[in-house]
Amino acid sequence: MPKTFAAITAVGGYIPEDILTNSDLEKMVDTNDEWITTRTGIKERRILKDPTKATSDLAVPAVQQLLEKRGISAEDIELIIFCTSTPDMMFPATANILADKIGAKNAWGYDLQAACSGFIFGLTTGAQFIESGKHQKVLIVGGDKMSSVVNYKDRNTCILFGDACAAVLLEPNKEGLGLQDSILKSDGSGGKFLNIQGGGSLHPASHTTVDAGLHYAFQEGRSVFKFAVTNMAEVAHQIIERNNLSGEDVDWLVPHQANKRIIDATAQRAGVPEAKVMINIQKYGNTTNATIPLCLWEWEEKLKKGDNLILAAFGGGFTWGSAYLKWAY
Ligand code: UT7
Repeated sequence: MPKTFAAITAVGGYIPEDILTNSDLEKMVDTNDEWITTRTGIKERRILKDPTKATSDLAVPAVQQLLEKRGISAEDIELIIFCTSTPDMMFPATANILADKIGAKNAWGYDLQAACSGFIFGLTTGAQFIESGKHQKVLIVGGDKMSSVVNYKDRNTCILFGDACAAVLLEPNKEGLGLQDSILKSDGSGGKFLNIQGGGSLHPASHTTVDAGLHYAFQEGRSVFKFAVTNMAEVAHQIIERNNLSGEDVDWLVPHQANKRIIDATAQRAGVPEAKVMINIQKYGNTTNATIPLCLWEWEEKLKKGDNLILAAFGGGFTWGSAYLKWAY
């Protein structure tokens, strides 16, 4: 019997309408378009302004689009893995909230927390349920309403993040297409450089935690940059080498969009020219768990069956990883 691979068979995405440009940010903090553009590559980001809407509301239109494209109903979904760092609430899981909102009555699900590496962790985890034969239709969602945890008075972080969501459907494939390999890594000693400390069991929400700004995303950018630029590039190189590929065999590099300089370093180490690198950081900034599936969504029409894709990410935790996919449609 041929081996069962877990293949992506549909992609859906959603970006909120409101745009926050570099010139808007110039009016909010001491920054400028030139600094942001040269240091990060970002020109604008999308913001979900409606205060009554949460991360699950970004996911609903993304998943509905995916279901329509694939021609299936929400009731066909068996498992939802929601990769997010900005869940609607502490619990229940945003996966459960989403299932209820879209009518995925036959699905179970859970949230996966691996910061910006979440989608690659989720893809690898979800693939296990397909490869084992346990499930036929697994939804991997990557979404964040980063604007809910960004301090728009902190120029170190507010220029970086945006809101978005994208999702992929995993189904069994007997032709050898789909997820071929992945390398996942973590190093908890990096947690101090990138985190949200407030609201957990260590620092439960209180007036003190609010006054200290502990509910905002904190990042020591320079330290994170050093780890990200080496580890993301290295893990992408490693997966290419271990699968006996060269940069030329890679049709698309799909990097997490945190900083254009990190993307460039990863592409260089992987030996992949910029024309084959998915880059949309200029339009959306860092959308955390959404960056990689959002790229797949934007590039979907250019992808061909059998294309070799290398995904790579680095994020809080620290977490990082890379995946090798053969595109299935
Ligand atoms: O996605 C999860 C993983 N995250 C990442 O991979 C992000 C990694 N880090 C980075 O991308 C970069 O470190 C940043 C884009 C966050 C910052 O760039 P940097 O080149 O590392 O700048 P820096 O933090 O070292 O700051 C350089 C200077 C400082 O001034 P001094 O000390 O040299 O006088 C900052 O105060 O730039 C200043 N600065 C700014 N200036 C204008 C910091 N933020 C800003 C700003 N506008 N928004």
